[in-house]
Amino acid sequence: MKNKVILAYSGGLDTSVLIKWLQENHDVDVITFTMELGQQIDLKQVAEKAHSLSVKNHYSVDGTEEFVLKHVFPAIKANALYEGKYPMATALGRPLIAKKLVEIAQKENAIAVVHGCTGKGNDQVRFDVTVKALAPDLKVMAPVREWGMSRKEEIKYAKEKGISIPHLSDPYSIDQNLWGRSIECGHLENADQEPLEEIYELTISPEDAPDKSEYVTIKFEAGCPVALNGKEMKPVALIEKLNEIAGKHGVGRVDHIEDRLVGIKSREIYESPAAEVLMEAHKDLEKMVLTRHELEFKKLIDEKWTQLVYTGLWIDPLREALEAFIDKTQERVCGEVKMKLYKGRCWAVARSSPMSLYNKNLATYEVETDFNQAYAEGFIELWGLPTKVANILKEKVKKEKQC
Ligand code: ARG
Repeated sequence: MKNKVILAYSGGLDTSVLIKWLQENHDVDVITFTMELGQQIDLKQVAEKAHSLSVKNHYSVDGTEEFVLKHVFPAIKANALYEGKYPMATALGRPLIAKKLVEIAQKENAIAVVHGCTGKGNDQVRFDVTVKALAPDLKVMAPVREWGMSRKEEIKYAKEKGISIPHLSDPYSIDQNLWGRSIECGHLENADQEPLEEIYELTISPEDAPDKSEYVTIKFEAGCPVALNGKEMKPVALIEKLNEIAGKHGVGRVDHIEDRLVGIKSREIYESPAAEVLMEAHKDLEKMVLTRHELEFKKLIDEKWTQLVYTGLWIDPLREALEAFIDKTQERVCGEVKMKLYKGRCWAVARSSPMSLYNKNLATYEVETDFNQAYAEGFIELWGLPTKVANILKEKVKKEKQC
């Protein structure tokens, strides 16, 4: 009997070549695994392709709901935007795929888990760390890191082995799930050039978006979205619907220079329509219900959570500890936010909450309120005291030096 390995299989060129390469170079039985995370792949078609390449067994799993509940919702609660821009669709998906790979590997008594990541990106780190942490005895193989085949050579190899090649002319590397779409390679590597319109799939260009704005109202409970435009919706359906609405207005495009964990700066393009609307709305609501002190401190915790997840440490106990703090704050993040979508932008225009700390009676500039303006003078005196003392001294020292 041959040893078995489990391969994370997308049906694309790299991982299809990997099947044959493993069979030939390592004399192993290859078991493939494909996961639906809301990217709407044809699981049946991918399974057929795997079988046509003589895999020993193939697994398909729909993890979309688990992805949303356990990975995306915590990201919303943590306002997770890496370097202020990237909603982390790919980064959030990888640890879930890795966890399922381990489960199948253990069930099948496999000796190794295999993925198709290169040695230049973050994804390899996310897979390797998660697998090693969950199953220290399992080997992780990443042949693309070593085999040194160019894309041309891979295509040649695929042709020789009778592997059908998807989108031969497609020069891009794309990863997609319900939370967004990451697009790399091809002309996008020229950071000084605007991307061609052809790369976008989930968003229309802002120029072609409707001339009329549209509103969406999002209801949150404990920091998570539960209803859209007054209609309660299941998490997956809500995000699907919002992707559609916001994408139609060109909302959710990101084009930025990103610092990868491995030290490389890369030009990254993302489309995450629902993510942009939900995170903006969530941040807006937090400002209404959390105290100034909570908001200030939570920013640090959010930043740490985001870094941990981006850098492949999903499995570190620190994440759960940070989430314990975040979840405590989210108990009061309930209410509704009305968002306006218009030509590539979205912003909050109204919000309300049973937990609101906004008190119109205090805030109004009308004279008759509970806020005693006479207190302001004494408060300002003490608030400015350290600054005043320091400056008096500074002036004194300056004068003494002149003498
Ligand atoms: N830079 C992003 C990240 O590290 C996106 C990676 C996208 N992966 C891909 N195969 N295109 O999360």
